[in-house]
Amino acid sequence: MEQEKILVLDFGGQYNQLIARRVRELHVYAEVEPYTLPVDEIKKRGYKGIIFTGGPNSVYGEAALDYDPALLQLGIPMLGICYGAQLMAHGLGGKVATAPTSEYGHTDVQRIGDSRLLDKVSSETVAWMSHTDYIEEPPAGFVVTAKTAACPVAAMECPEKGFYATQFHPEVMHTKEGRKVLKAFVIDICGCHGDWEMGSFVERSIREIREKVGDGKVLCALSGGVDSSVAAVLLSKAVGKQLTCVFVDQGLLRKDEGDQVEAVFGPDGPYDLNFIRVNVQQRFYDKLAGVTEPEKKRKIIGEEFIRVFEEEAKKIGAVDFLVQGTIYPDVIESGLGDSAVIKSHHNVGGLPDHVDFKEIIEPLRMLFKDEVRKAGLELGIPDYLVYRQPFPGPGLAIRIIGEVNEERIRIVQEADAIYREEIEAYDDGKFAKTLGQYFAALTNMRSVGVMGDFRTYDYAVALRAVETSDFMTASAAQIPWDLLMKITNRIINEVDHVNRVMYDCTSKPPGTIELE
Ligand code: XMP
Repeated sequence: MEQEKILVLDFGGQYNQLIARRVRELHVYAEVEPYTLPVDEIKKRGYKGIIFTGGPNSVYGEAALDYDPALLQLGIPMLGICYGAQLMAHGLGGKVATAPTSEYGHTDVQRIGDSRLLDKVSSETVAWMSHTDYIEEPPAGFVVTAKTAACPVAAMECPEKGFYATQFHPEVMHTKEGRKVLKAFVIDICGCHGDWEMGSFVERSIREIREKVGDGKVLCALSGGVDSSVAAVLLSKAVGKQLTCVFVDQGLLRKDEGDQVEAVFGPDGPYDLNFIRVNVQQRFYDKLAGVTEPEKKRKIIGEEFIRVFEEEAKKIGAVDFLVQGTIYPDVIESGLGDSAVIKSHHNVGGLPDHVDFKEIIEPLRMLFKDEVRKAGLELGIPDYLVYRQPFPGPGLAIRIIGEVNEERIRIVQEADAIYREEIEAYDDGKFAKTLGQYFAALTNMRSVGVMGDFRTYDYAVALRAVETSDFMTASAAQIPWDLLMKITNRIINEVDHVNRVMYDCTSKPPGTIELE
């Protein structure tokens, strides 16, 4: 049977991925596509429903998006959110205007009359608003189903034609009953049953990979991160020893990490695959000697990684398939918009040019991060690998400000290991769960201190911990003072050449999560 799916049509809003995730949390597969996706293609794909997202434009502004009006005649149930609601109103003959008062943030919403969309929502509820335009008059045939003090049409619908709209954002957590709204749309209105389950995804993927690969040879670059680990295990379950995983240990990993990866994927681990660990630490240190500029470090590491990988691939000989751990946010981000490059993340989209292969396999390209983790658990991958924090491709090189050398790598590895150990032990691990990412970095500052009656002139370690859900924005976590003191003492006592520990209180923006 064909997978049920919902289309999230992107008009440039900031919550588009979030909408798709919320729909998937209802066990219905959702995909994000740009609003320029041809109407014929939409018809062909057989969506059960379409969600128009918010967006930064005004339906009247000069930058108004030029969408195909046939979109509104598809006869598939549609939900317009924020700008998407205004677009629907405008496109069907209603009136959109600049609101006398803009609404931002928590807003009291009052329901009006019966509504298929808001059926399960309380008569008075709280929703998240963010708009300067509003719908002044709904199109003919629509009924208004909610209002706020400043917004006469907070929700409207025309159930006969399958049109539904909310000025507020049901996808954000601040909208108290948002889940009920999305559920009513996806399940009750679009008639989806909820067939998106990780167990069946894993089974289906294994089947499809087997069919595709046949008796071909498969090559995978394994980093030990969540995505490549899940991709590798999925492939190994599907094709066993036809898979070779190459793990490049460039000497920029966290303390003992190379050995941990080998313990899981190597010959003594539980998986049936060919595992090659390439120890090229010195080669990377030589390349990085004297380099201090962050983007240059990234470039050197990215290029050298590809070179090493190509050399290994050459030894293996021609392969048929190359595995990439691409996940859905990478797919969406590379396909849409053209936002500024703040940092070049080398492991997204960097492909070796000289590896001889016929085709790429991206088994996770449909999954969000939390779904990759669920798939990992389904596959029996140990928790500590599945819940591993994100770790940048260039590794510790971008957590060492200034030159990278063995001494500095040792310092940051030791300090980071202590930091993570203490964070993870605190409050039975509950505190660590509130953090998106936490790590130690080495600053290029040296300062005077005194230890055991001697003057020291040593390094300062910076500790970073952030709360974030999407890594696009983040706030500095409030680390309990007693914990911070304990970590500071341990680092200073146990790590040679560190005489100061600092905590980074910067949020993102203006800071980034990594220090380089
Ligand atoms: P920033 O520092 O940009 O980090 O706020 C956001 C997220 O991306 C990770 N990051 C990288 N990942 N290659 C990567 O693969 C990189 O060059 C890189 N730089 C940052 C960072 O750890 C955080 O999760």
